[in-house]
Amino acid sequence: MSIVYNEKKKTFSLHTARTTYQLKIGNLNYVKHLYYGATIHDEDLIYLIRRYDRGFSGNPYDSLKERTFSLDAQPQEFTTQQQGDFRINSIEVQNGDGSFSFDGRYVSHKICKGPFTLKGLPTPFAREEDTVDTLELTIEDAVTKVRVTLLYTVFEEADIIMRAARVHNGGAKTIALKRIMSMNMDFMNGRDLDLISLPGRYGQERQVERQSLTHHVHKIRSGRGISSHQQNPFIALAERNAGEDYGSCYGFALMYSGSFLAEAELDQYDQARLVMGINDRLFSWDVAPGEDFDTPAVLMTYTHKGLTRMSQNYHNFFRTNMNRSKFVRDVRRPVLINTWEAAFFSFDDVKLVEIARAAKDMGVEMIVMDDGWFGKRDDDNSGLGDWYVNEKKIRCGLTELVRQINDMDMKFGIWFEPEMVSEDSNLFRAHPDWVMEIPGRHAVRSRNQLVLDVGRKEVQDYLIQSVNRILDSANIYYVKWDINRAITDLWSNVLPAERQGEVFHRYVLGLYRVMDGIIKTHPDVMFEGCAGGGGRFDPAMLTYFVQYWSSDNTRPLDNLKLHYGSSFLYPVCSMGAHVSEASPMVPLETKAAIAMCGTFGYELDATKLSREQIETCAEMSRLYHKYYDLNFFGDYYRLSNPFEQVNLVAWETVAKDRKEALVTVITVNLTMNGPQEYIKCKGLAPDTLYHLEGGGSDLVVSGMALMHAGIPVPREIPEFTAFLYHLKALEDQ
Ligand code: GLA
Repeated sequence: MSIVYNEKKKTFSLHTARTTYQLKIGNLNYVKHLYYGATIHDEDLIYLIRRYDRGFSGNPYDSLKERTFSLDAQPQEFTTQQQGDFRINSIEVQNGDGSFSFDGRYVSHKICKGPFTLKGLPTPFAREEDTVDTLELTIEDAVTKVRVTLLYTVFEEADIIMRAARVHNGGAKTIALKRIMSMNMDFMNGRDLDLISLPGRYGQERQVERQSLTHHVHKIRSGRGISSHQQNPFIALAERNAGEDYGSCYGFALMYSGSFLAEAELDQYDQARLVMGINDRLFSWDVAPGEDFDTPAVLMTYTHKGLTRMSQNYHNFFRTNMNRSKFVRDVRRPVLINTWEAAFFSFDDVKLVEIARAAKDMGVEMIVMDDGWFGKRDDDNSGLGDWYVNEKKIRCGLTELVRQINDMDMKFGIWFEPEMVSEDSNLFRAHPDWVMEIPGRHAVRSRNQLVLDVGRKEVQDYLIQSVNRILDSANIYYVKWDINRAITDLWSNVLPAERQGEVFHRYVLGLYRVMDGIIKTHPDVMFEGCAGGGGRFDPAMLTYFVQYWSSDNTRPLDNLKLHYGSSFLYPVCSMGAHVSEASPMVPLETKAAIAMCGTFGYELDATKLSREQIETCAEMSRLYHKYYDLNFFGDYYRLSNPFEQVNLVAWETVAKDRKEALVTVITVNLTMNGPQEYIKCKGLAPDTLYHLEGGGSDLVVSGMALMHAGIPVPREIPEFTAFLYHLKALEDQ
């Protein structure tokens, strides 16, 4: 059992393979957080918590004259509201009598096998071979009878602890949740912590920022209704001296695809507190007597072995416990070509067949018909919502088009943007009340489209039926599911005035229901997510999509940063990356080497390529398959930081058994007559001899030498040259 309850000490120790998390039912039945870090046995760590009379930090009434007990200075598992703790809090509830108060004390707990699940929200699953246990610990406000059950699932081997909170209204009056976080994490001394986040923008998602915690509230959030290009629902807290290979790092990844919030505060006593959950902006949720409210889950990991190990913990877990699709591991994902950058809206069935025929020689195995095939859709001003084939463009019909493509021994993929509607569409004309628009106002336009109120059941049912109808009408192998605007004008025509604060979250719950009804009912179809690039690339989405289009930015050098940033949380096998015509000065081989740090494909007009380019692509597609297992399932190492002034950008994937590795090096700034550069490998077996091939080298070198002395990278070469160094353990040759 990975969860140990010591009845005498009232401590709960949650053990993963290499970490321990400890909490305790403390004074006055407040639940204290004692520890999260490297493994410690089940001793009571309460000695860590000292008490002093802290001025202006109030004492709970029943601590009587005990002035040293203030919640303002105690580490807690979940906060109270208005009980003398003035830091950021995990719950704000307005009770039936109008008061804002919550004083949660321990009432019960339960330890059980397997992971917790949440109503309407995605969570990871346990495989047969996993040791997975759950602690459910309930705190209650004695006056209002509002209960919060703190949920903890320990995925032992993965070093992952999942948290969430469930609110239950046990009182007689409806309460309004104004803020309800999934987790709270306190550090008694957070002075030396840095916060790492993944900010960005359209075309430049998931860049990396690292800042020291200072004495204010750091807010990482999306208020756009989607997890967003601008921030990702992930943060890490790392010791100031932690780097890739050493130092304490905590990761927190929220499984939520809507507006989210992570707040970190360094307080007056240098205590640090982190909360994470649904964004409380524009949020309010009524919970009637007897009802529950579930928050989304947070996946936490800890390591004292640096940022690389933190990322690898997530990569491993995402590859095994998040998505049951056969395309995660059992079935290889094909090399695809997408028509978007090749043709935008101007294509027809004949053009698609031509592209497919030309692409076949590039080693392409699947053509994806992007935006423009449905309704009246000749540009982005009309047609969204009308999910039936435009017979002016696809004259032969979809079933026949797919047959022609399949006859070439190619697979067929298709694009949808289900959550949106154009005003110039039959759907909008039939159901103008299905969009989000506040009565008496004009809704904000973005890409000239409106957002459907996906929280409504009839909208969900329409989407499930209309998308499934297309999927079942032809031999469709792949779907790209897009969303191309942020959400504004929160309003639902089916909710009363006082419940409009629920619209954002109802949208997300509705979306998950729609995805369940489409994605989970089509296990043989491979689904890729997209949101104007990577605007909703988040952990919850990866329970549905095996891969996510990283960015509309296909410029290879920008992708070096994008992949680097994404890799803090997401594995290579989840990052959509294509070779395109962008950046003509970068050689095709280099573009392909960069796209191989992702799911690989092409985004160009194959009919316009020269014979030589076609042959280069064929070789690149072959390499994608050759290195598929290494890239998709190996341990990933960032070998350089493209945000720094570096001459080379490099990364490495190492097979789990360390018998094979691939080191990719891109020369980004080769000064004339400059220094000899070396790339030091990581994660190899020191005493193993490796056959090193690539970059003009054909050598036998020990893992030790490759890791400590490195590989010399040739100089005096064309700019933006890519080197793929393949390492194979000698005994396996
Ligand atoms: C978004 C996607 C693109 C493409 C277009 C189509 O921008 O990110 O890849 O599918 O929509 O409109």
